[in-house]
Amino acid sequence: MMDKPIGIFDSGIGGLTVCKAIHDILPSESIIYFGDTARFPYGTRSRETIIRYSKEIAAYLYSRKVKMIVIACNTSSAAALDTLRSEFSIPVIGVIDAGARAACNRLKGNSIGVIGTRATVSSGSYVRAIHSIRPGIKVHQQHATLFVSLTEEGMTDNEIARLASREYIQGLYDEGVRTLILGCTHFPMLKMAISSVYPDMELIDTGIEIALEVKDILREKNLENKTSGDYKGKIELYASDITDTLQRLKDMFFGRNGTTIEKLIING
Ligand code: DGL
Repeated sequence: MMDKPIGIFDSGIGGLTVCKAIHDILPSESIIYFGDTARFPYGTRSRETIIRYSKEIAAYLYSRKVKMIVIACNTSSAAALDTLRSEFSIPVIGVIDAGARAACNRLKGNSIGVIGTRATVSSGSYVRAIHSIRPGIKVHQQHATLFVSLTEEGMTDNEIARLASREYIQGLYDEGVRTLILGCTHFPMLKMAISSVYPDMELIDTGIEIALEVKDILREKNLENKTSGDYKGKIELYASDITDTLQRLKDMFFGRNGTTIEKLIING
């Protein structure tokens, strides 16, 4: 069980930020990643569709004998976490609880801001997760749909990214928000642009937070890969469509040589 891989999935490329964080923190763990690039984006789809897609991917990962499933997509975590937990006998974790917990721990001021896709924001999942930890806290939410396209286009630290940051975040800032959850796995790539406009804003990168949670759960359940020495886990990357953006990000996170991405179509 210990040397089995961790299964990670996202609607597309954003989850690679989570995959990278988990690999950095747990280098001896093997990973199977699936990005549903052909059916991307999930953020504008109905809850029912997001649950169906998420179940199909989780069933694939389960068939590959993963020891746990990480939903590296806020939109899917918001819609499908409970369903996947009830249908699979291995640990299933989503980015939302980890992000909410980190925001409460690193709280500046007395309110928390959340930016995400429309589906994540309208699900209210972050508000519920934060209130279950700190009932009294004020949560301000804002969708930041354009951030997804900016990231896809590689416009992560230019004037357009800074303008979009002002457009989406200024309202939250004016409300007193100084702790902001990047509630979409694409958004950590915009950290530089957001911080240059709002240097006093504490940004919560859910990828790093969930990687720390994965580490804790593996230790708690005695599932850590204990292979000694400099053993590096194997990384298998799959996507339902191989796009230029995906390739570029893969190169950025995992280098040009070695790790490759294979096309894989999953359907019910
Ligand atoms: N990666 C998704 C998330 O974290 C956003 C992209 C999408 O709309 O599918 O919410």
